[in-house]
Amino acid sequence: MPQNITPLIAGNWKMNGLRAALIEVEKLAGRLAAGEPPRCTVAICPPATLINPMNRIAAPAGIVLGGQDCHPAASGAHTGDIAAQMLADAGAQMVIVGHSERRADHGETDDLVRQKAMAALASGLTPIICVGETRAEREAGKADAVVSRQLAGSVPDQAADEDVVIAYEPVWAIGTGLTPTSADIAEMHKNLRDQLISRFGKRGEGVRLLYGGSLKPANAKEILAIANVNGGLVGGASLLADDFAAIIWAL
Ligand code: 13P
Repeated sequence: MPQNITPLIAGNWKMNGLRAALIEVEKLAGRLAAGEPPRCTVAICPPATLINPMNRIAAPAGIVLGGQDCHPAASGAHTGDIAAQMLADAGAQMVIVGHSERRADHGETDDLVRQKAMAALASGLTPIICVGETRAEREAGKADAVVSRQLAGSVPDQAADEDVVIAYEPVWAIGTGLTPTSADIAEMHKNLRDQLISRFGKRGEGVRLLYGGSLKPANAKEILAIANVNGGLVGGASLLADDFAAIIWAL
């Protein structure tokens, strides 16, 4: 893995956050201005309604914003959906695609996730492509096979290096307080890295591999130090500036 890979700590606010929550971003911006520079890119993926107002605080603080989903098409008759270029127009530079909550709630397939990632790239956004096994799949010894299949099917051919981010989020670790052992995270991230290199060659070496699932101040130092973990995708703990800051500076 190249030593010059810049880690990414990204907050996924999910369906949380009214304008009043911008105070947390103001607090985080204050911490970033006052503290030692973080050793990572800091990103927040708020609900789409907050991207534009949040950008006024985030941009001067160097916080990158992202969406949580996008439609594969550039525009058209898709009521309730959002296009990648709309997210970019609002100030986003990234977008999460294929989060397990969307795969479960909206029946998203690997093929659809790949098309969404392609739409993101076409609009100049970095897709954060999520993969991860369920508890039943892990207990059946199928975690590697499931995640490998998701990776192969969800990552577009033109993706590589800094253009794309992969987040390994075991479904059973999301919002539960449970996390895999460090050895299990290391093994999965090594598998992801090996597969990216075997598919993309050298271009697979710079792809950032994030861990997500109950990442919090108490476990961030240990998890973020694991080989091939190039940052984290943080749910609940990204909603409060103090918790998110503790994870950012755990790197
Ligand atoms: P939690 O950090 O709340 O477990 O959520 C993880 C997640 O799903 C981030 O995308």
